[in-house]
Amino acid sequence: MLFDNHGRPLEYLRLAVTDRCNLRCFYCMPEEGIKYLLKQELLTYEEMLRLTGLLAGLGVRKVRLTGGEPFVRRDLVPFMNRLSQISGIEEISLTTNGVLTAPHVPELARLGVRTVNLSLDTLDRARFASITRRDELPRVLETLYALLEVGIRVKINAVVMDGQNIEDLLPLAELTRELPVEVRFIEEMPFNGGSHEATPATLPWNHHRIRQHLALNLGELTPVATHPGDTASHYTVAGHQGRLGIIAAYSRTFCGTCNRLRLTAEGGLKTCLYDQGVLDLRAMLRGGAPDDELVAALSHAFRNRAANGFEAESQRPLHQLNFESMSTIGG
Ligand code: GTP
Ligand code: 5AD
Ligand code: SF4
Repeated sequence: MLFDNHGRPLEYLRLAVTDRCNLRCFYCMPEEGIKYLLKQELLTYEEMLRLTGLLAGLGVRKVRLTGGEPFVRRDLVPFMNRLSQISGIEEISLTTNGVLTAPHVPELARLGVRTVNLSLDTLDRARFASITRRDELPRVLETLYALLEVGIRVKINAVVMDGQNIEDLLPLAELTRELPVEVRFIEEMPFNGGSHEATPATLPWNHHRIRQHLALNLGELTPVATHPGDTASHYTVAGHQGRLGIIAAYSRTFCGTCNRLRLTAEGGLKTCLYDQGVLDLRAMLRGGAPDDELVAALSHAFRNRAANGFEAESQRPLHQLNFESMSTIGG
């Protein structure tokens, strides 16, 4: 297993298969969308398989497919099937908005996918249409129930936005009463592709306020142990089948135990959510680099990670901050 310069292991790859999305979430991109990559700029599935194989050799065990929306890329499930055959890869998961996912749920179950992270910020159809700028709530709910039906664990991701979905926090949290889901509330980060002014210096709905609000209405939130590398704090509520989570993505740092690498849709390697890409793997692949050269470059990048990218980012002057869309970064 490969350890970085701060003693953190390499275990987890977040692979963005596209930067495109079929929603236009307010907190992720502007209404007109973002400037998408051209087809030839995207890594091919073959290129992704090759890189994942090399990373598995360096210790990666878990791959999460992200986007954009992974299901807008054609032939995603056959690609997942090939990924699952790579020696060393033990877990394949995905983060999806659920619009196109329901018809693929039986195949995901057959592939052995155990957990899906589903983005869902409200259970109210009108507010869903206003936050995502698309009227797609029914298809997302269909996905949620289809996943539960086949026994795939679901983690719901809800971004908490002052003035937009505060009244939705309790109905979402209430899902955990009868359903075995985890509902995770996420502090809004500034990665919105210029959709609106970046998150203010003091976040109106931070981890503490979210927790207080939930506890006041649901009863005591009992903390549950987290695994190293986990982004969420987890809580149980007496009598609820599922559990709650809070991802303090903006007010806290998870850097100390971060075990992830990110590969953007155009083949940029990121050793941190906040870096701008430390290695152009597409150029290396298309320039004919042999495996040993790629492995050396990947290892070198991982061994030279920033200790705390979050802190470095928060000390930059406002005009230098990275406001790229989450759809481009891959979450
Ligand atoms: P698992 O731990 O595999 O379930 O994944 P996850 O919760 O990290 O992934 P998911 O794609 O569901 O992302 C949930 C939220 O966490 C999103 O808002 C991500 O942008 C955020 N997130 C993921 N990784 C990091 C990170 O390294 N730092 C910060 N600050 N936020 C992150
Ligand atoms: N802040 C916090 N989370 C975000 N996501 C997208 N944009 C933001 C943002 N600006 C979340 C989505 C998705 C996950 C990959 O990232 O809810 O579930
Ligand atoms: Fe698409 Fe996810 Fe961005 Fe929403 S947050 S526009 S679903 S990539």
